[in-house]
Amino acid sequence: MIKVLFVCLGNICRSPLAQAIFDHKINKYQLTNKFSSDSCGTSDYHIGELPDERTMNCAAKYRLPIDHRARQINRVDLREFHYLIAMDFSNKKNINHLLQKFKIAHEKVFLIREFQPEPDVLEVPDPYYGGEDGFEEVYQILDDSIEHFLEYLKKGEDIYV
Ligand code: 4NP
Repeated sequence: MIKVLFVCLGNICRSPLAQAIFDHKINKYQLTNKFSSDSCGTSDYHIGELPDERTMNCAAKYRLPIDHRARQINRVDLREFHYLIAMDFSNKKNINHLLQKFKIAHEKVFLIREFQPEPDVLEVPDPYYGGEDGFEEVYQILDDSIEHFLEYLKKGEDIYV
């Protein structure tokens, strides 16, 4: 089982939506025996909270089940998850900082948009201080990125089974 962890700052907007999209796709492609996902934040700002209401509305619009409570990334995550997938440069920097702190070598820390064939920019914008339309934009970016990420994972699956 390949375990994927989606990481953002608060774990109430981008990464829970990424997790919901990923889980929906692995269900659709009958890949639940090969891949699993979770999400977390680098901060402790929203620990225990449900996703932001606007995240919930966006998930409902696309009929994505979403059942998550915010949590902060921890040392065990760094060892347990095969892929650590950040939403923006700051998340990635924070992950790498933790890896350094705990002296863990991890070869699969990526930005999710690195999997998009032709991204405009490499970051998923932080929608927290904006309006509902920011969440729609985040959804479109994540849906496309994750489709390509799964393509990438499927190609490599023989390495891991
Ligand atoms: P997320 O968005 O990292 O996509 O969950 C944010 C959520 C909360 C905050 C910032 C970004 N905050 O500052 O509380």
